[in-house]
Amino acid sequence: MQIHPRIADLRAALKGRGRIAFVPTMGNLHAGHLSLMREARAHGDTVVASIFVNRLQFGPNEDFDQYPRTFEADCEKLAAAGVDLLFAPTEAELYPEPQEYVVEPPAIQHLLDGEFRPGHFRGVATVVLKLFNVVQPQVALFGKKDYQQLLVIRGMTRQLALPIDIVGGETVRADDGLALSSRNGYLSPAERQEATRLYRELSRIRDAIRAGETDYAGLERAAVAALDGAGWKTDYVAVRQQSDLRPPTGPERALVVLAASRLGATRLIDNIEI
Ligand code: PAF
Repeated sequence: MQIHPRIADLRAALKGRGRIAFVPTMGNLHAGHLSLMREARAHGDTVVASIFVNRLQFGPNEDFDQYPRTFEADCEKLAAAGVDLLFAPTEAELYPEPQEYVVEPPAIQHLLDGEFRPGHFRGVATVVLKLFNVVQPQVALFGKKDYQQLLVIRGMTRQLALPIDIVGGETVRADDGLALSSRNGYLSPAERQEATRLYRELSRIRDAIRAGETDYAGLERAAVAALDGAGWKTDYVAVRQQSDLRPPTGPERALVVLAASRLGATRLIDNIEI
């Protein structure tokens, strides 16, 4: 696997490489990322990954400094997963001057996670557009675990007419249901055991809706009560339309239940499509 910290070198190395499938990451790779890398192989001739912990998408009191940086181990995993090229820029390479031109997503950026992480999706959209411009892929893959991020990127790609197919990869879970996430590493052993409650509550809501329940607000309230009663601090549990993450209004059958909750100092998110 080639590793390129510099934009010019990456561009030179990508000349004549056919269809490029791209998986952007912030590193600290787990089986969820690696399943995207393997899926990417089916979509392109050349698989490119990136590792860049993007300061722009972290709030002032968030975990940018603590975010786990495990570059050597990540490189081994990417090489084993068959990635051809890794783009791993420094901050000075990707942001040589303050990034004043940004992508301002529409109202979806203020819903759900956006309410609790102001500016987060602006930072995500901005770096993803920039990475797209650097790598110029024909297809890019993102995990459905970050459901709202996937929708923001799909919307940006469509409305800005970027010639890139966006593919959503299924969430990879531990045997007990916990969605894999780099932030799971922050959990103590006791918290790690408790963490499965989030998936259980989302599954309960999915099962109830499948069984015909339509009192979504009641289901959301019950899940928040169950989580907070077990010591979590829940930002939201929400049943939404898959298409735009708005509350279900009409006959849309494609729903998704999403949640964000804090266990100790760790904020976990998860979702299940219904
Ligand atoms: O999902 C992530 O890891 C990040 O938000 C992304 C898409 C790499 C942008 O920094």
